[in-house]
Formats: sequence, structure tokens, C-alpha cells
Amino acid sequence: MNPQYETLRPLKGASLGTLSTITPDQLDALLTLASEVKANPDPYRQCLKDKSFALVFEKHSTRTRVSFEVGVHELGGNPIFLSRNEIQLGRGEPIEDTAMVLSRYVQGIVLRTYGQERFDAMAGASTIPVINALTDQFHPCQVLADLQTIREHRGALAGKTLTWIGDGNNMAHSLMLGCALSGMHFRAASPDGYLCNPDVVQTAETIAANTGATLRLMTDPQGAVDGCDVVVTDVFTSMGQEDEQAKRLQAFEGYQVNEALMNRAQSDALFLHCLPAHRGEEVTAEVIDGRWSVVWDEAENRLHAQKALMLALMGAL
Ligand code: CP
Ligand code: NVA
Repeated sequence: MNPQYETLRPLKGASLGTLSTITPDQLDALLTLASEVKANPDPYRQCLKDKSFALVFEKHSTRTRVSFEVGVHELGGNPIFLSRNEIQLGRGEPIEDTAMVLSRYVQGIVLRTYGQERFDAMAGASTIPVINALTDQFHPCQVLADLQTIREHRGALAGKTLTWIGDGNNMAHSLMLGCALSGMHFRAASPDGYLCNPDVVQTAETIAANTGATLRLMTDPQGAVDGCDVVVTDVFTSMGQEDEQAKRLQAFEGYQVNEALMNRAQSDALFLHCLPAHRGEEVTAEVIDGRWSVVWDEAENRLHAQKALMLALMGAL
């Protein structure tokens, strides 16, 4: 075993609700392991043998659902997909009761839900690891894949500059924490009223103080992108905000990632987007389908990054 993975041992039995609960060394080890299971999957095929994972989803999903189902299966385990509408949770059974019952049947839970407090309730009542597969506040699994992708394309993360354009949403929060942990400089340009949550910024600042990362939040997309190494965006309207769509389309005018904006970044800058994307809204086709874009590698890496995470949380290394 790679001695770097020793740092993952304390994660055995833990849940992952947000990246601020892991250390910079653990993040680094998870990214190394993710690339290793990608390059060499065979030694890991029985690691979750006889273990079942419940995938509880209260929102839509393509990537997260499929990458977890396939990932559990490829590690020798049994994924059980449970859509909110098909289980008693959707008829009002408390999430804590659901957690206690599932803990008697399966060895891990993957939860996609609304408020982070719902994730915390599930994780608090479970006796098994619970993984955040997206809440309104955070999307840690996506950011593991994003950082893996940047590292695979551009090498060491520390010292690079990542610019977020758009809503101060779940992706922005998790990317800010991921950058802080990995010593990357994080800039975000969001319209007034849509900036990142100050509590998350405070947490990221505390982490950054020990890693050399810096954080800058602003409203000017051009200034934020100037000379950066990576540009990332996401939809203007996240799941659960559908009623605000018209208002948001107006508020985010000028925050589209297009060729003119990308030309202000480094000439070899990467473009990432967690997907699903809306071409012509937050990003143009020339960017997401153009030379900067690594979005398909990014989507693929969900599979590998989550395998690494499950191996660590299950103590299966
Ligand atoms: N990026 C992401 O989480 O995609 P899904 O909503 O399709 O799972
Ligand atoms: N911010 C988006 C991410 C989707 C993967 C949402 O929450 O809908």
C-alpha cells in the first residue's frame, strides 16, 4: 500500500458532509488514490465485497447516481437506489428513522438532499458512513473529481489560481474549500446578492491560513478571470430554485463564460463545469465544446474519486 494512504485511516467509519472535515493531507491522498484506482482498478474489485450501499436521492441526478451505482458495483459491493418518491421518506417518515433502519441493512448511505441540516440529521442518526451526494450548500464529491481532473491535466494544485464565475452556490462553496485545502488561489465573481455564504468563506479562510491558499470574492468576472489557470461555472438556477429562474437570468447577465472571457485567462487555461450545462446561458458552446474544456474527463472522474472516498470511509484499503 502507498504509505500516503496511512493518512486516510482515521476516515474509517466517518461520514463526509463537507470537505472542511478532512485535512489537506487526506485530500491529497484521496486524489492520489482516485487516480490510482482509475489507472489500475483490478486490485480493488473485491474491496466492498458483501457490502451494500443505499443511494437515497431527493433530487434528480444523472452523473452522481450512475457513478455511485457503477462505483459500488466495481468495488464488489451492492448499490440500492432509493428515490425519495418510492420510499416512505417521501410520505413523511423522518429522515432519522430512515437512517436508523438503513443502518441495520446496509453498510453505507449516499444522500442527495436539500438543506445541509437534512444531511446532518441523516448522518447523526446513522451508525454507518453517510456521503453527501449534493445538498443546497455543498457538493464535495464533485469537487474531489474536479481537483483530480485539474491535477491530471496540469500537475500539482498548490499555487494555481481557480476562478469561479456565477452563483455562490453549493459548487462554489465546495470548490472554495477544496482550493483552500489544496493551496490553490480561489477567486469568485458573483452578482451582488449571490455571493458565497460568509460562514463558508470564514471556514475556508481558516483552512487557507495553513496551506498558502488565498480567497478573493468580487463582482467583476473579467478581473476575476485575468491570468487564472482554471475557470469553473455552473447553472444560474440550481435544483430547488426553479421559481427564481426569471429573476436569476436577469441577475446573472454578464456572467456568461464565453470565448472573450476565456481569452483573459492563461492561454492553456482549463474550463470545468459539473454539468448539467445550459449552452447559451452560463456558458457558450464554443467554450464547453472548445479547446479549454475538460468536462467529460471531469464527469468520468466522479466514478474514480468516489471509489477512493468509499474505500477510505469503509476502511477498505
Ligand atoms: N454534476 C452532478 O452532480 O450531476 P448530476 O446532477 O447529474 O448527478
Ligand atoms: N448547483 C447545481 C449543481 C448540479 C449538479 C444544483 O444544485 O442544481
